Amino acid sequence: MAWNVKPSATTQIQKRDAPYLTEKMARRFTRKILPRYETKMGALMPILNEVQHEYGYIPYQSMIEIATFLEIHPGDVLDMVSFYEEYHTEPVGKYVIGVCQSIACEVCGHQAILDHLRGKLGIEPHETTDDGRFTLLTMECLGACEGAPCALINDDRHDNLSIDQIDRLIDDLE
Ligand code: FES
Repeated sequence: MAWNVKPSATTQIQKRDAPYLTEKMARRFTRKILPRYETKMGALMPILNEVQHEYGYIPYQSMIEIATFLEIHPGDVLDMVSFYEEYHTEPVGKYVIGVCQSIACEVCGHQAILDHLRGKLGIEPHETTDDGRFTLLTMECLGACEGAPCALINDDRHDNLSIDQIDRLIDDLE
């Protein structure tokens, strides 16, 4: 994972008037998620999943709202979000392509696939195409080393990838 170092003491976050964690969502989380966990902290990941599912990413403002809702520190929410590359802090494209770059996939040719995608989509890893269709990511082990090289396209994993296959998969999306 690439660690981004930012001047957090002076960073301004964009805020909007309407909360991301709406009253309706809070009621649902209270009824359906909180009872499943011994501590409020335990409910953090399921709530992050819900927020990302709702908005496509997890805005910084929502992290503060989630922290208030769970009575935990906003830094704990940020820690969780920044640890998992599956969580996005910025809007992403309609199709998120995550190429595994861990050891088995690296040995089996992930770089050729990644380079091909960079050229085909005209973006670097962690960028989104101007038309908002594709976001390209590099990811750590997807837990399918026997199928290396592999990649996720949104929630679907594709194993034993070749350049022809990734081309076909993308062309089918388009
Ligand atoms: S190294 Fe790529 S899936 Fe494990």
